[in-house]
Amino acid sequence: MKKLVILISGRGSNMEAIVRAAIPGAKIAAVIANKPTAAGLAFARAHGIEAEVVDHTAYADRDAFDNALAIAIDRHEPDLVVLAGFMRVLGDAFVRRYEGRMINIHPSLLPSFPGLHTHRKAIESGVRLHGATVHFVTPTLDCGPIIAQAAVPVGADDTEASLAAKVLVQEHVIYPQAVRWFVEGRLRVEGNRVTVIDADLPSDGWM
Ligand code: GAR
Repeated sequence: MKKLVILISGRGSNMEAIVRAAIPGAKIAAVIANKPTAAGLAFARAHGIEAEVVDHTAYADRDAFDNALAIAIDRHEPDLVVLAGFMRVLGDAFVRRYEGRMINIHPSLLPSFPGLHTHRKAIESGVRLHGATVHFVTPTLDCGPIIAQAAVPVGADDTEASLAAKVLVQEHVIYPQAVRWFVEGRLRVEGNRVTVIDADLPSDGWM
């Protein structure tokens, strides 16, 4: 059984998609939020999952928060740390501690539009395709080896909100899928490239 710790900051719909996927061989040991108001905490508790808060405002600086977060995570001895709408930038030492066993979902087709406001940037830049990316976390923000991507068309009438909604539907498909691949030991990383062994999606994680 592979143990997962999922980190959230708010709504937690990606965490919910992973919980609902009931991935064989995966146990969600805990959901940890950096905000006491994170709505996803209630869903986790209602599903019998340990839900905790490590409130970043209680720490003097990023290192202190990262240390407290690492202690909370390590208590569960996870095989995989899943960032699901976790909106704090993590320091290099924290990221290295979980290298190869921490993944993130980002609402754009990386390497396009790292950082915030991805849907607005996609509309403003005039791209016809936008989407979401699941990737391993490395010290450079939104830059790690890509595990899965899904694309959606950008329509002439799309707004930031409508585009976000379309992308979110795809996030809920690719994130549980990527977690399942990890749990099944099917991800091979060479440099920045990830191969999915015996991928059951067309072209290794492209939807
Ligand atoms: C998702 O769209 C996720 O891709 C994004 O925040 C949202 C969280 O939604 N993450 C980032 O922007 C990370 N930089 P959720 O809380 O409902 O899963």
